[in-house]
Amino acid sequence: METVKFKEMKDGDKEDYELLAKFEDKYIEGTADRVIRILKGLDSSLGGYQISRLEHSLQTASRALRDKADEETIVAALLHDIGDEIAPLNHSEISAAVLKPFVSEKTHWIVQKHGLFQSYYYNHHYGQDRNLRNKFKGHPFYEDTLNFCSKWDQNSFDPNYETIPLKDFIPMVYRIFKREPHKHVYLGL
Ligand SMILES: [Fe+2]
Ligand SMILES: [Fe+2]
Repeated sequence: METVKFKEMKDGDKEDYELLAKFEDKYIEGTADRVIRILKGLDSSLGGYQISRLEHSLQTASRALRDKADEETIVAALLHDIGDEIAPLNHSEISAAVLKPFVSEKTHWIVQKHGLFQSYYYNHHYGQDRNLRNKFKGHPFYEDTLNFCSKWDQNSFDPNYETIPLKDFIPMVYRIFKREPHKHVYLGL
């Protein structure tokens, strides 16, 4: 396989970095495939619920679709828990980061904050504050995040719901991840 000449990044020349850019472009093209693979892996995660995390994700996306949400929002609903596997304590941040280069600031915020907003439904049962979301009252995306949780997320643990199959969402995932990524995101600005 063609490789760079350097062993330390500081020694790389233009030719090396052009080669890496070629490999990276190809790799970025495969992002949607890898995201779908990780999503499928949620089929075996986290016990205790009546349905798997994958079924929950599909159910959340199905509700968004049936409520005629836009495609970006449907894909965000599908992937909102994708961080669960490797970051169960702060999964919302991981899910949001995966989407960030390809979605609006609003969609990113909703996914990033959904875990905190969702805690409204259970924190009091653990003797904790269920109203943590109140600190964001007045934020332009507060209502949207509240609705995301109340209408699509918190109620999507139902084994009897007629869930739309994953194959119907896959073309949507490809379309979102094919978008021109936001430059400020990939530059880390
Ligand atoms: Fe979540
Ligand atoms: Fe969820």
